[in-house]
Amino acid sequence: MDHDPFAELKKRQRELWASFGPTATSTTPVAAHLVKFAAIAPGDTVLDVATGTGVAAITAARAGARVKALDLTPELLAQAHENARIAGHEEIEWTEGDAEQLPYADASFDVVLSQFGHMFAPRPEVAIAEMRRVLKPGGRIAFATWPPEHMVGRMFAFVGRNSPPLPSGSAPPPQWGNLAVIAERLGARFDSPFFERGVMAYPSLSLSHYRLSMERTIGPLQKLVERLVSEPEKLAALRSEFDAMAEPYYYDNVVHQDYVLTRAHAI
Ligand SMILES: C[S@@+](CC[C@H](N)C(=O)[O-])C[C@H]1O[C@@H](n2cnc3c(N)ncnc32)[C@H](O)[C@@H]1O
Repeated sequence: MDHDPFAELKKRQRELWASFGPTATSTTPVAAHLVKFAAIAPGDTVLDVATGTGVAAITAARAGARVKALDLTPELLAQAHENARIAGHEEIEWTEGDAEQLPYADASFDVVLSQFGHMFAPRPEVAIAEMRRVLKPGGRIAFATWPPEHMVGRMFAFVGRNSPPLPSGSAPPPQWGNLAVIAERLGARFDSPFFERGVMAYPSLSLSHYRLSMERTIGPLQKLVERLVSEPEKLAALRSEFDAMAEPYYYDNVVHQDYVLTRAHAI
């Protein structure tokens, strides 16, 4: 990442995401949806960008694909290795790296996936250009993102407005859930995108259980809470705001997290 103006931010992100593992289990049904939506077939060459603990990569391998996967965070990649061993897919190639600088040759993959991953790279135009570069012409890009008007998009906006500003030139992650923005970012390098929606069920015994679980595993929120430990009144006010935001999504002991899937073909 020499000469990368965002190297410092990415270093922080790598540390922030290290605690994500326990929450990744909840994303396994989304991975099944994404792999089906991407029409992954046996023999397809697939790249999973920002794979985390490998849920989408391993699901694609179970569908018969030949899979490579990349993430910034070594702690999560160690868990991905272990998940692959348990699932019997030790052939998956895991690489520590950056979505904005993919270490793969042009036109290497039939499918490029990202599940709630590339949306955290600071420069959308750089990440999408890289994902297109490594796709074969006619290959598919398919990704899951959080719409800004629903629970997780609102949570990242909440974290954003209560944290130090992002370096200039970086885009807030929830923009990746806006269909018009997605279409614009895919631009002329892809055909017209196809969208589908889903709801990720996050089981929780109470709203407080949900908030605590997010505070312990979603690095940017964890950091925000750590910054406020010496200001208990501020922290209590923020926690109340979080609970009020999450309350409409919590019923039947589940937090309903709406997501959007996008699919397009490289031109
Ligand atoms: C919400 S987690 C999603 C992980 C996984 N795809 C899943 O669905 O469980 C976000 C992931 O993005 C990774 N990430 C953030 N910025 C990245 C970047 N610039 N390049 C590669 N990975 C990145 C983090 O390390 C983390 O694993």
